[in-house]
Amino acid sequence: MKDTKMKTKIREMVIADYDGVRTLWGETAGLGLSSADERGEVEKFLDANPKTSLIIEIDGEIVGSVLGGFDGRRGYIYHLTVVEKMRGKGFGKMLMDELELRFKEIGAHKIHLMIYLDNENWRFYEERGYKRRDGELFIMSSDLG
Ligand SMILES: CC(C)(COP(=O)(O)OP(=O)(O)OC[C@H]1O[C@@H](n2cnc3c(N)ncnc32)[C@H](O)[C@@H]1OP(=O)(O)O)[C@@H](O)C(=O)NCCC(=O)NCCS
Repeated sequence: MKDTKMKTKIREMVIADYDGVRTLWGETAGLGLSSADERGEVEKFLDANPKTSLIIEIDGEIVGSVLGGFDGRRGYIYHLTVVEKMRGKGFGKMLMDELELRFKEIGAHKIHLMIYLDNENWRFYEERGYKRRDGELFIMSSDLG
């Protein structure tokens, strides 16, 4: 008898996933893509953060991903993305539940993330208890070339 049950799995992202994940990022409005998203840079990121960059897949097809970075002090979230037609089904929540668990396990006590002011998906994080820091914090950046 054919098994018609779909198999959902969360696993660590490896560089072999890069093409699929990069395509997903490219199709997603609201992400700020840059040279940091090129293959070699992502490989460096995964080498430094092998346990906290995750893929969610159904029957081997990527439906979402997130990059989690830990600098020994705070956890940082980048590019949480779920395939558009699969949104609203709990996959983003599953990824974040797993990522937060892993951050805790490696000793992160607080998580930060950056999100564009015009990206309404900040509400997804608010639902999870994340707080906006408007009026208190802002980002400063310097391009090292
Ligand atoms: C943000 C994103 C990852 C959410 O993924 P998702 O799989 O649709 O989210 P889920 O189905 O797991 O939703 C979990 C909960 O959050 C809520 N939620 C999801 N998106 C929301 C939004 N934009 N605003 C408010 N609530 C939202 C859901 O209603 C759900 O609540 P419930 O548990 O009470 O039912 C997805 O919308 C996405 O890929 N967006 C584009 C990329 C992006 O903007 N990423 C974030 C910036 S880096």
